[in-house]
Amino acid sequence: MTTLAFIFRSKPVKVLLMQAKILVIYGDGIGPEVTAVGQAVLKKVAELFGHQFSFEEALLGHQAIVATGQPLPEDTLQKAKNVDAILFGAIGHPMYDQNPNLPVRPEQGLLKLRKELGLFANLRPIQVFDELLEASPIKPEILRGADILFFRELTGGIYFGTPRERRDNGNTAVDTCIYTKAEVRRIAVMAFQAAKNRRGKVTSVDKANVLETSRLWRETVTEVAQNFPEVELEHQLVDSMTMKLISQPRNYDVILTENLFGDILTDEASQIAGSMGLLASASVGSNVGLYEPIHGSAPDIAGQNVANPIASVLSASLLLSMSLNLKTESEAVVQAVRLVLSEGYRTKDIATPQTPSDKLLGTREMGEKILQKLAALAV
Ligand code: IPM
Ligand code: MG
Repeated sequence: MTTLAFIFRSKPVKVLLMQAKILVIYGDGIGPEVTAVGQAVLKKVAELFGHQFSFEEALLGHQAIVATGQPLPEDTLQKAKNVDAILFGAIGHPMYDQNPNLPVRPEQGLLKLRKELGLFANLRPIQVFDELLEASPIKPEILRGADILFFRELTGGIYFGTPRERRDNGNTAVDTCIYTKAEVRRIAVMAFQAAKNRRGKVTSVDKANVLETSRLWRETVTEVAQNFPEVELEHQLVDSMTMKLISQPRNYDVILTENLFGDILTDEASQIAGSMGLLASASVGSNVGLYEPIHGSAPDIAGQNVANPIASVLSASLLLSMSLNLKTESEAVVQAVRLVLSEGYRTKDIATPQTPSDKLLGTREMGEKILQKLAALAV
């Protein structure tokens, strides 16, 4: 707290007033309750730091299918193209898992939105809060100090390749994994640039012993590395990477990987941080950024005021720094979260029975605490 209060006081009066248009997509399941907290944090930041943020809302996923028949309605796409940044919750509904052959699914909306907006890079920071070392199933001595930034390619690979279809009267299914050098190069460059400003190491993950796309991936990443002599590059195969990630998480700085591997590895990596409910992500690549928790819609706990809103709050923090270049404000949000955690406040997912000092809070109450800390920091 003192550090931040010091920063604020030592700063000259803020002269730059930021005006920004933000689209809020609450989505399905726990999306609305956690995103309401992320949005409240953005509103509080605007109030405390003298910015003007205007908010619009739009539908995506199951909610959009119910209202319009489309997982990504045209209205949502148009709004998304005309804002500075998007804060998104989650999508998904159990009815589709029971009927996997339904032609229209919520996930299609998110995938199309990513593609249409050109959001080819998904950044997923994995940071261990010292206050939460006990919340992870991994031993504290292995975790302490782990700090990883994932770059997951987001608009290519097997998620988007064609053909994708059933053949042979439905008895055969085809998905296509396809990458171009240009697609690999653009995200690799981003990852190396980030590593340069961090601890100078990129770990590129592929399956080059088997897959042709992975061989292209490895070749291209190696070429890009020539332009960044100050950054160390190592290659890892995805299967052994799943082990190393949890047995030696401190070995990694920037991890660069393709779409499907990144989807899987980042869910695994959430256990390093302690809970999926803590992990934020930024999808970038064009002039609008999309910020969302990495967790899904968690329908089993939706509407119960028990979900952890911290991933949405940290997504709002990424939105502030990456889309609006408001670094101080972004850092203040992270600091507010840290202070709340250091006082022992926990949502259910990160409460540990062996720590009796944990104070259990609901989604809204956790949000209130974070807002209070934010306000106190800015005094
Ligand atoms: C994620 C999610 C999505 C993905 C789903 C909801 C389509 O799991 O953002 O990690 O697979 O990319
Ligand atoms: Mg995922």
